[in-house]
Amino acid sequence: MAKEVVMVRSSRLPGFYKVTVDERRSLVSEATGAEVDEIAQALDGGGLDAETADKFVENVLGTYALPYGVALNVRVNGHDYVVPMVVEEPSVVAAASNASKMVRAGGGFVAEWDQPIMIAQIQLIQVDQREVALRRVLEAKAEILELANRSIPGLVARGGGARDVEVRTLGGLEERMVVVHVLVDCRDAMGANLVNTVAEAVADRLAELTCGRVGLRILSNLCDKRCIRVTCNVPARVLATEEMAGEDVVEGIVNASRFAELDPYRAATHNKGIMNGIDAVVIATGNDWRAVEAGAHAFAARSGHYSPLATWRKEAGGLAGRLEVPMSLGTVGGTLRVHPAARLSLRMLGVTDASELGAIACAVGLASNLAAVRALATVGIQRGHMALHARAVAVAAGATGGLVERVAQMIVEARDITLEGATKALYVLSAEQADGATQDPVLG
Ligand code: MEV
Repeated sequence: MAKEVVMVRSSRLPGFYKVTVDERRSLVSEATGAEVDEIAQALDGGGLDAETADKFVENVLGTYALPYGVALNVRVNGHDYVVPMVVEEPSVVAAASNASKMVRAGGGFVAEWDQPIMIAQIQLIQVDQREVALRRVLEAKAEILELANRSIPGLVARGGGARDVEVRTLGGLEERMVVVHVLVDCRDAMGANLVNTVAEAVADRLAELTCGRVGLRILSNLCDKRCIRVTCNVPARVLATEEMAGEDVVEGIVNASRFAELDPYRAATHNKGIMNGIDAVVIATGNDWRAVEAGAHAFAARSGHYSPLATWRKEAGGLAGRLEVPMSLGTVGGTLRVHPAARLSLRMLGVTDASELGAIACAVGLASNLAAVRALATVGIQRGHMALHARAVAVAAGATGGLVERVAQMIVEARDITLEGATKALYVLSAEQADGATQDPVLG
């Protein structure tokens, strides 16, 4: 029997990256309460067998695995979390962990969130008297809410349900179009199925009330009533690099923020860096990352000017960061019930509240952004990125075990991060090993 997850004791696990996968599993087990066996069962073989995958989607041939790592040092609202991240891009996990350590020096992330309200959209067409239609829908609000709630009794029993009705006209008079929003409190569910059920349950009655015809009935992924806001304060001293003083790095990061605020071309890349962190947590916890992506970018463009989701300002002693993003995550239902690795992720986090999960994902998003803009404002992105990329190239050249690090180090030093460079380095190191000349007791 798996023991209950109590709480992450600390997400500071120094030297974690240097030890083996098995040793990391033991450390994470100690830190989170998830059993080593449970971690192995959930993750070996890519976290999902073909038979289970066959129950998810159609025409299954197999599964497609991605690396599953953990971000360390993450502290949100005074709680420590070892945060699972599923991502294929080198340096994303390391960057999130490093930046979280800097944020930790300023007290950690502070998060707050809205109620988990999703929007069901019901489109009504051929509405000739739109103003009358609007009034009639609002007058029937109580009836619509009751109709909606009758369609989702399980959610109502869990304390959620339809909360409000909003109505708008779209386009000019000639469009004859009205859209009704039913706001649904989804509690710990992502809510897509619940909200779509509501949309379909109330549509016919809305058509009667508006004297129109039913058009689309579907949730909106722009769930701007379900936002999460994360802030952090980072002392200037922890931002310093070998070449730059902390205060100068602060200036550079504020400058990077202003660039993104003024230019959609830069904002898109800035936001991509944020989504590197958010998506990785969303995927690791079995959630719908396309929904989160769609919501985030629509939210970024809500003023009509595509803007950064996170901004940075100078404050006394350092830097203040802020991220706001709509977040439709679930800790119950959907993929979560069946995906062993997604269940493991939630156990490791010790989280059952979907808003808390969203706050953790957003904290990792803000950390990813901090790491990116700090690198861009100082040495540039390539130095750190290439060092990590070198590991992947070393593996591609056939390096295994401790040779991966050594080959990577050699090709970085030689500034030749290519397959040929790695093959040569591997040949040299293997020959040395065979001679026993440089046998390294730890790595070799
Ligand atoms: C790369 O995956 C993400 C960055 O481009 C983000 C950014 O430019 O802020 C480094």
